[in-house]
Amino acid sequence: MAIEQAAIEEIKFRNNIEDVISQYVTLKRAGSNLVGLCPFHSEKSPSFTVFSNEGNFYCFGCGAGGDVITFIRRAENLDYRSALEFLAKRVGITIAQNDNDKQEARRRERVLEMNKLAARFFHEKLMSPEGRSGYEYLTKSRGLSLSHIRHFGLGFAPNSFGALTDLLRSKGYADHEMASAFLCGVSQKTGRPYDYFRNRVIFPILGVSGDVVAFGGRVMDDSKPKYLNSSDTPAFKKSRNLFAMNFAKNYCAEQIILCEGYMDVIALHCAGFTNAVATLGTAITPEHARMLKRYTKKVIISYDSDGAGQNAADKAFKLLGEVGVETKILRMNGAKDPDEYIKKFGSESFRKLIEGSETEFEYKFGKILSKYDFGITSEKIKALDESEKLIAQVMSAAEREIYIHAAAPKLGITPDVMKRDVDRFISRRDKIAAAEASKKIMLESEGYGDRTNPDYIKNPKAAAAEEAILALVILHPEYLREISKNGNPLTAGEMFTSLGKKICSAILSILEDGEESCSELEGKLGEYLEVDEMARVTKMCIARRSLTNNTLEVLRECRKTLASAKLKSELDIQDIINLKRKKSDKESN
Ligand code: UTP
Ligand code: MN
Repeated sequence: MAIEQAAIEEIKFRNNIEDVISQYVTLKRAGSNLVGLCPFHSEKSPSFTVFSNEGNFYCFGCGAGGDVITFIRRAENLDYRSALEFLAKRVGITIAQNDNDKQEARRRERVLEMNKLAARFFHEKLMSPEGRSGYEYLTKSRGLSLSHIRHFGLGFAPNSFGALTDLLRSKGYADHEMASAFLCGVSQKTGRPYDYFRNRVIFPILGVSGDVVAFGGRVMDDSKPKYLNSSDTPAFKKSRNLFAMNFAKNYCAEQIILCEGYMDVIALHCAGFTNAVATLGTAITPEHARMLKRYTKKVIISYDSDGAGQNAADKAFKLLGEVGVETKILRMNGAKDPDEYIKKFGSESFRKLIEGSETEFEYKFGKILSKYDFGITSEKIKALDESEKLIAQVMSAAEREIYIHAAAPKLGITPDVMKRDVDRFISRRDKIAAAEASKKIMLESEGYGDRTNPDYIKNPKAAAAEEAILALVILHPEYLREISKNGNPLTAGEMFTSLGKKICSAILSILEDGEESCSELEGKLGEYLEVDEMARVTKMCIARRSLTNNTLEVLRECRKTLASAKLKSELDIQDIINLKRKKSDKESN
């Protein structure tokens, strides 16, 4: 069952595109539009634009675009319908569920029920004689108290292939349900299910609403793999859940401590740092970054002090920086991770580490200083070079000035000299970026490298006419009636590219149901088109809107152009590509 047009309109109307996007991107006003750093690709100067009056967005850097629904599809990684539900929920509208959704919701509920039973089962086992080895591991080897064990609902999976699956089956759950919940595996030989977690201590993972959404299980010795984790299930996505967020959410308005491991988080909570969370057997994702931004002002990265932890920190800085949340990092000496640090040095020392946590620049500059031997000239030059490049990456001139004054004396040069070098790096980088951008724009304007519409290059003239027609029809749905009246109705077959045909037939079937306005039409198109294709629609409309002659007459002209361009034989694609290459190489030389 499709969602009613009226409901879509209501949802779009109540979810002002500026408000929605502002929750993901820091926007600044530029005329009647707003601009910001694109959340869908990495950039240093803003090419992401929100057209408030038109109700859509477009990134001139990466070509992402669409209406508010398309934005949420991309930002939250949802399909069209789920994005509508997300937006509906945001403004307190409920959408009637269709059968598919009901089934999906039921599957999710069943997984959550099984998880709850499993969590209780694991915890009871831990407390029973059967779980003695697990209990001793957690208390003796890891120093946890009974109240900590209870607080986190820790458990023990017995060394049995059937204990949990038998229990769940007796409660009426089918094998395939247990498998979908990742509570059992299915034997390839016999087709029979068996317990997935065996002879491990169990860390239940709770969603922010308090449901048990997944599990992690650790061996109690050095065997491999050290942890097993639930994969994605109908009730869990590891790319958007954080361990202990259910506790931390009440203590994290000011700052969150982001760790790597379950044990680090538990140790921190036990030591009073109840704002600690960890990703779950995965590196931080853009979704995690956005989630953190929603909950807190500042993230303190508290990763392991080994090389892997430090590489992971670079990624965390990048992703958190992109969503615009203040990020610092703490540097631990004498311990491999926060768990060990607190055990060795106590919680007061850890608090000091937090207080002394460093910005991305301080941290990276510190690494440069410790990497090179300043007694050796060649090493000193390398350190200078790396530091200057690092400073050149900082956007704000004021910030750069501060860093230059802090860094120059440590490197044994004057701030003036350093500033000149940094400026040279910036202008060189900007020149390269500008050249690349113009080359890209030139090639793209001819349809080269077009993944969304690969047919474009086969006949750019026809494709351009097609885009004009589609945009005109979207901006002026009433033109369709006019041309039909004259006995020459628009058809999808008239289009040249397969994307054009797809967009055209979507428009026609939406308009079949009645007269729609342009914004209504755009809102409905998302049901038929992928996000990249929606971006194309937005791009066509922006191009068209910037022109003044969007008349019915132009539409007629474009149809003629399209028809005659289609008649001309298609050029050999490879020829065109080669030609473009030569042209662009010549220009960039
Ligand atoms: P660590 O190896 O640092 O584990 O991995 P830890 O949680 O600190 O545990 P201890 O203190 O050594 O006992 C960090 C995180 O990486 C994931 C887990 O989420 C773990 O908490 N991981 C690690 C896995 O998913 N699988 C593995 O085999 C290892
Ligand atoms: Mn660790």
